[in-house]
Formats: sequence, structure tokens, C-alpha cells
Amino acid sequence: MSIENDLELIEDYDKEYCLQVFAPLPVAFTKGKGAYLYDTQNARYLDMIGGIAVNSLGYGNPRLTSAVTKQAKDLIHACNYYYIPQRSELAYRLCRVSFADKVFFCNSGAEANEAAIKLARGYYYYRDINKYEIITANMSFHGRTMGTIAATGQDKFSRPFEPNVPGFVHVPFNDIDAMIQAVNPHTAAIMLELVQGESGVHPADKDYIIEIKKLCVEKDILLIFDEVQTGIGRTGKMFCYQNYGVVPDIMTLAKGLGGGVPIGAMLTTDKVATGLRPGDHGSTFGGNPLACAAGNAVMEAIEEDGIIDNVQEVSAELFEKLGKLRSKYNCIRSVRGQGLLIGIEFDDTITAAGMREQLFSMGILVSAIGKSTIRLAPPLIITKAQAGMFIKALDKILKNVTGPKSVLNKIKDSLPSKKQIKESTESINNAKVDKLDDLLDDDN
Ligand SMILES: Cc1ncc(COP(=O)(O)O)c(C=O)c1O
Repeated sequence: MSIENDLELIEDYDKEYCLQVFAPLPVAFTKGKGAYLYDTQNARYLDMIGGIAVNSLGYGNPRLTSAVTKQAKDLIHACNYYYIPQRSELAYRLCRVSFADKVFFCNSGAEANEAAIKLARGYYYYRDINKYEIITANMSFHGRTMGTIAATGQDKFSRPFEPNVPGFVHVPFNDIDAMIQAVNPHTAAIMLELVQGESGVHPADKDYIIEIKKLCVEKDILLIFDEVQTGIGRTGKMFCYQNYGVVPDIMTLAKGLGGGVPIGAMLTTDKVATGLRPGDHGSTFGGNPLACAAGNAVMEAIEEDGIIDNVQEVSAELFEKLGKLRSKYNCIRSVRGQGLLIGIEFDDTITAAGMREQLFSMGILVSAIGKSTIRLAPPLIITKAQAGMFIKALDKILKNVTGPKSVLNKIKDSLPSKKQIKESTESINNAKVDKLDDLLDDDN
């Protein structure tokens, strides 16, 4: 049985058999190439969200696909009872380009953060020091496990599942005085995202991060950077901490590291690595040959294919053009971010969900965060011409905005009815390829 190309059936099965924790748009993708995705009707979409910062090399990258194919043929899984060559190589590659001396591999961002939290506590435990508290920022996001929802500085993720794991304190982001006040003799670590991605793309101030590092050194506190979203070239450097010139004691990675194959990693120094001893932590799947082969291919591509230069160039172009749009349209309240992690916030006349759906109807994929911000996290290989298509689409949409009664405001946050979905999908599919081509700049 294959339901691959029948959207209606796919939806029916999903609703019937999958836990309903997501609210998907009415589309299913069956293949991709470069920065484009193709749906069940072969309609083409420009992917400006990259599987939420996961598909770092885009779709069909020759290095990644051949590494994964070869590894799948040779050996998919070998357990941690034995050495795993692909894991050794990936650990070496990550240490070579970062502050770290040691790497632990797992399968997701949340798991990487769990490992970081355990390591920070274990580090003080084995030194006979009574430190266990972890300070994180309000509006942060660190994952969905019980430990990481307690770490996350947004109650909405943990309220239904209380009581929370104890030992986490939350303080306002970018407020050094609040951080200084929260530190106490039991503080083991400060854990931060350098750009808060899930709550609207809010970058940390450089001075804030520098002062936090000083505080950590002075008070013997570990500094953890959650680079699950910002790592692996996303912000125009291999790791976002390199934009700040501040080195952490522990860093977590996931998303872009496998280019779509699930993998997480927790990196640390030799000194801090003493916090986890044999048997203290582990993972059945973490660091398996398939995932690490993907990670090696991604690292090789990023280091050898000029991808970080591309991120910097396309990012500069996007920020410049978005700046111009902001001067043209008052409804753009702010444009934030680093590299190819960008948030565009609108005023009350435009809802983020409405904008996402308008862009979707033109064949462009973005994510909506909260009421008023859309997020861009396209594949790192996106071209300037493709970024220009997004700008042109946004410009076209904003031209139609005539105030509080704009078409965008009429689109509700809720999903459309099944009939609307079918009609809109059909009309979108019929027109999408042409629409995308229309968005190419004349000089491209
Ligand atoms: C900064 C950050 N940390 C952790 C996570 C959790 O990662 P995962 O969904 O792979 O568990 C995310 C996911 O969005 C993230 O953005």
C-alpha cells in the first residue's frame, strides 16, 4: 500500500492514527532539490524554513546523499559496545573546529541539552561541591523532555506536566543585573541560546554575553550555549559563539548537523568532561554509523564548499533588502537575527499565520512564531536569486495591505476547513510553478 501521492488520504490517516500534537499545513512533500521542495502534485515550493533549520545542505546534496546511501548499504547501526569509526571521525571534526575536546552523541536537541544538564551537575558532584542549579533565560527554548521543559523559560511548555524537574531558575534575557542577582552558591551553570529562535528570533547582546562569561569565571559557574538552532553555519560562522568571541564550557548541537538525519551532540572540554563517568550517561542510537556518516558529510561540505561564505553573502543581501522593505512599509516592526536565522515582526495589521499562508499560496515556506513574527531559516545553500524571490513575494503581499482591514488580518490563526484546503491546494498546485518563476528578478 502506498498513500504517498494522495494528500486527502495522507491527511485522513494522519488524523486517524497519529497523535494530534501538530497542526500541519495542507501539503505533503515527496522530494526536494537544492532549496526547493515538491509536493504530491509535483508543485514546487521555495523552502525558506529548511525543516526548521535542519536541512542545512538543502535537498539532494551529492555529498550527503552519497554518504548516507553508502553507509546504509554498509552498516546502519552498531551499538556502543564497539568502536564506531564514523563517530570517532565526527567527534574529531567537531573538536577540530570548536573549543571542545570531547563530544557525546545523541539523537536530538533535547537529548543534547539533557546531557549538558547532567554533565554540569555531575561536574560539581564529582568534585564534592554542592552546586546543581541551572539558570536559563525567559522566553528560551531547550526542548520537550521533562528536564528541558523545566529548563525552558516559557511556562506554556511545562504547565500541563507539572511538577517540574527542580533546580531551574529563569531570568529576563539580555539583563545582566537580573543574572547577577539570580546567581547563588548553588548555581552550577548558566544555559543560554545566543539567538532565541523559537520565541521570535531574539539575539543576545554581545556585552551581555561577555559579562556573563566574566561572571561564570569569577563564580566558578559553567557556561552552556544551546546551539541546537544556531550551530553548524546557521549564523554565518561555524558556531554562533564565534560571533561573540566568548567560549562556553559546554555546547549543544542538533538540527543542521545531520542535514536531515537525526543527530544531536554535546561538546565540552576535557576538564568539564570529568562530570560524566562510564555508565553515567548513554544512548542506544546516539552516534550510530548512519547518523555520523551524515554528520561527517555535512561538516565536510560546510568546510569545503564555501557554505559559510554563502550564508554571509545571502544574509547581507536579505538584511539589506528587508531593511528597504521596512522603510517602505510601516507594518514591518523589526527585522532581527544573524546569518540565515531571521525574524520579521509585523505590527497589529498583520498576523504571522496570515502572512505564512499568503506566502504559502505563492509557493514559499516560512514559519510563524507567536502572533506577529515570521521566521526564516532556509537551507544554507540558498542562492541570492532565491532569497530575492522571497523578498519580491513579501513586497507583493505588503503592497496589498491597506490598513487594519487588510486581507492578511482576515486569515484566522486556525486551520482552514477541509473543503477550503482542497480548493486552495488545487488552485495553488495549478499555479505554483509559474508563480515562483514570476518572482525571479529580471536580472536573474
Ligand atoms: C535552541 C533549541 N534547543 C533545543 C531544541 C530541541 O531540539 P529537538 O526538537 O531536536 O529536541 C530546539 C528545537 O527547536 C531549539 O531550537
